[in-house]
Amino acid sequence: MSDAWEEELLAEPYRIKVIEPVRRTTRQEREELIRRAGYNPFRLPAEAVYIDLLTDSGTSAMSDRQWAGLMIGDESYAGSRNFYHLQATVERIFGFPHVIPTHQGRAAENVLFTTLLKEGQVVPNNMHFDTTKAHVLHKGGRPVDCPVTAAYDPTQPEPFKGNVDLGKLEELIRTEGPAKIPFLMVTATCNSGGGQPVSLANLRGVKEVASRYGIPVFIDACRFAENAYFIKQREPGQAGRSLGEIAREMFSYADGCTMSAKKDALVNIGGFLALRDEQLYREASVWAVLFEGFPTYGGLAGRDLEAMARGLEEVLDESYLAHRIGQVEYLARRLLQAGVPIVEPPGGHAVYVDVRRFLPHLPQGQFPAWALSVALYVEAGVRSVEVGTVLAGRDPATGDHDYPRLELLRLAIPRRVYTQTHLELVARAIIRLYGQRDRIKGFRFTFEPPVLRHFTARFEPV
Ligand code: F0G
Repeated sequence: MSDAWEEELLAEPYRIKVIEPVRRTTRQEREELIRRAGYNPFRLPAEAVYIDLLTDSGTSAMSDRQWAGLMIGDESYAGSRNFYHLQATVERIFGFPHVIPTHQGRAAENVLFTTLLKEGQVVPNNMHFDTTKAHVLHKGGRPVDCPVTAAYDPTQPEPFKGNVDLGKLEELIRTEGPAKIPFLMVTATCNSGGGQPVSLANLRGVKEVASRYGIPVFIDACRFAENAYFIKQREPGQAGRSLGEIAREMFSYADGCTMSAKKDALVNIGGFLALRDEQLYREASVWAVLFEGFPTYGGLAGRDLEAMARGLEEVLDESYLAHRIGQVEYLARRLLQAGVPIVEPPGGHAVYVDVRRFLPHLPQGQFPAWALSVALYVEAGVRSVEVGTVLAGRDPATGDHDYPRLELLRLAIPRRVYTQTHLELVARAIIRLYGQRDRIKGFRFTFEPPVLRHFTARFEPV
């Protein structure tokens, strides 16, 4: 292992073979660009963005081994060799013998929920990600979040804020009755809670509760490797185990998983549904054929399956994860040192700025986190994403904004894409804005779409 000074330096565990030039813009250009985009960063052309922290999904840099894998894509309609490679890799890492590729994570949710979820049923989760929630609702189900209470407190630096509250979970099962709950889900790491990990002890606990009532458990595995790394770092007794062993134990408590390969399989597109039970696999395959394609390609090219298999082989590498999580921690530490309020501890894939404390002078109705994302773009060409009032939408009962408990700005770090200097630039830009925070103004809508308003809305400064 390396010495302490080397670890602190956080040098990249890879070298750069191909580069993608990015253009820097002037402040004047950015002011004009964001005005033309209706003050909506989603509506900016990506080429006008210098550092894009909108999402860690599908934005990873592939390795030379993955790119080489694309050349041995077998594009047969059925039984492509790359499917068998993916299947063997999924079985080795997750312990599930059956895998159905899908074009991305939400497609795996669609196949699973169509197979198992009936109208009027209830799905518990630590916290549903947006697409998961939307798919549960689409099937006429009711998504219920059961996180530990610390998940809602950005100032409480607990190690496993992604944990399920087992008491709440059991109470929900008792009140609804187990027959109304077709399965439980656990999202690892918990994106909606700030990329926070779930402990092995908690997963074991979920499994115990679920078994008592005969309910299957599924893990939303998008960021499973980052979760495994946190377990190794933070959970008593886990430091000496390999990440592979930890991952294997995590999934031993589940009956299957949905996966967005755009995160911890280090590819730009892809996903899968993996299952333990053969009968369930057969039922799910029927829907997979309808929605995605033949069950050995599932909406993807053979070459994509190969890149996915190889990404899964790379993602549990400890030096990669130490650097990856280290980058997120570095950005968080730089901000904390300057007094910038963030959700603590930082998550595995992103730093979340706590904008209620950053811009206390702006009422939630003037979209403070949105205002900060616009200011950050103008300041340094950095694109981030609001996880606040605009994203939350309106309450259908009252018609008013459905004000969320937390008003956050997410800085999601793509995997293997940006250097330390890029992150330092992001930190300095935010610290500069914090120094002039009183000058940041709120926004109001000039155009508000009825659904998923954040993607296409337009604004003007108040
Ligand atoms: N589950 C979680 C926890 C996610 O974070 C995402 C996507 C999905 C499911 C859906 O996967 O996009 O491949 O269909 N999260 C992205 C993000 C979009 O920016 O956090 P998908």
